[in-house]
Amino acid sequence: MNIITDDKIPNNVQLSSDRRLQRALEAWQPQFLDWWKQMGPVGWQDKDIYLRTAISVETDGWAHFDYIKMPDYRWGIFLEPKQEGRVHGFGDNHGQPVWDEVPGEHRNMLKRLVVTQGDTEPASVEQQRMLGATAPSLYDLRNLFQVNVEEGRHLWAMVYLLHTYFGRDGREEAEQLLARRSGDVDKPRILGAFNEPTSHWLSFFMFTMFTDRDGKYQLAALAESGFDPLSRTTRFMLTEEAHHMFVGETGVLRVVDRTAQQMTEHKKDDVAAVRALGLIDLPTMQKYLNLWYSLSLDLFGGEISSNAASYFATGIKGRAKEEQFEDHEALTGSYGMDVPKEGALVHEDVPLRNAMNEVLRDAYVEDCQRGVDKWNRTIKSHGVDFELKLPSRRFHRHIGIYAGICTDLNGTIITKEAFEAKKDEWLPSEADKTYVKSLMQKPIWDPKQMANWIAAPKQGIKGRPVDFEYVRHEPS
Ligand SMILES: [Fe+2]
Ligand SMILES: [Fe+2]
Repeated sequence: MNIITDDKIPNNVQLSSDRRLQRALEAWQPQFLDWWKQMGPVGWQDKDIYLRTAISVETDGWAHFDYIKMPDYRWGIFLEPKQEGRVHGFGDNHGQPVWDEVPGEHRNMLKRLVVTQGDTEPASVEQQRMLGATAPSLYDLRNLFQVNVEEGRHLWAMVYLLHTYFGRDGREEAEQLLARRSGDVDKPRILGAFNEPTSHWLSFFMFTMFTDRDGKYQLAALAESGFDPLSRTTRFMLTEEAHHMFVGETGVLRVVDRTAQQMTEHKKDDVAAVRALGLIDLPTMQKYLNLWYSLSLDLFGGEISSNAASYFATGIKGRAKEEQFEDHEALTGSYGMDVPKEGALVHEDVPLRNAMNEVLRDAYVEDCQRGVDKWNRTIKSHGVDFELKLPSRRFHRHIGIYAGICTDLNGTIITKEAFEAKKDEWLPSEADKTYVKSLMQKPIWDPKQMANWIAAPKQGIKGRPVDFEYVRHEPS
């Protein structure tokens, strides 16, 4: 029999005295483990991995490092401690006490948000499941698995909310989260970007840089929620999420570092010559950036959105760092945007509440730019004359007001034919994908080695050296 204990499932929600939640989790947890074994990382399940586990929300407990086998990872349930007297920070209920239970009139909307967020967590594990076979180093392999187990924990976090606050249909939704599959024709994951396989390590780094960063902003907006359990759950998730973006940002940085350093050393700068050195050339890096950035921009939803307005009005989902804004009701302001009309862009002022997705996207774009600036400083430090650029937010969009148009990288509207003619210069072509994959045929299992196409990290994990055996690839 499966007995749920505080020891098995570290938590700060008094699980051991909550019979109802225990019963729900006793049924769900074995299904989760089945899903993990079936759809989690391929291979490596019986190997010792140097992982951090959250065992409490205190600073000394939330990041506990040790060797562990992934199926034994203690997926826990953690909420930031309750702030007594917390009030709604925005919307129509601004200043009123926050909700500890789901308000009936907003139940469906809230459930939809929790389910959509929850669905992305296992989806990304599924997308990345094959990457263990081609890791550029044990350090990177360990980081991949760290991200994977924590996305698993984020699924737990959302399932806790569904089981605790949404009754029978919450339990059904929790089961569906384990039933959908990334890329499956019949039962796909909810959001488009989560149905594309992350088929090699460059995509993994771009995904953790750009797509996980969308996650950070969605969580930051939910952390403002007037539904207090959602706010407290997402606040704790954000502490883990920071590492995922570190993996992406420094992963790409190490690739451009290696390429630029070798270009200078060998005095080569054309694509063919750089590829002959077994490196990922910078124009190809730009194409992957264009692809993952544009896919991730879509995840913020439509520029003009009545759903976003309702989320804000009701107090369910705010803006990232709501306290930095002066007007928390946003009833009178407007947001200027360029709307495509009959083949041209027309400036329009949209009521601010309807533009909340765009406000969140602004914060995201700025954060991405900060990362790109860092990459460019590294390229420049090697004396290489090349700059990576974020394309216009209108480029290659599939959701929102720019979905129906084609643009160039600067966001100028062009014909579909013109786009098709340039596509392979702007986005990874089949040949680019084949080339990038060809570099990643063999995994590196020697802790002292790093794949040729990527620089070693500056530091190891938790004070360990870079060449530490982060994954023991021999069975113990
Ligand atoms: Fe996550
Ligand atoms: Fe993440």
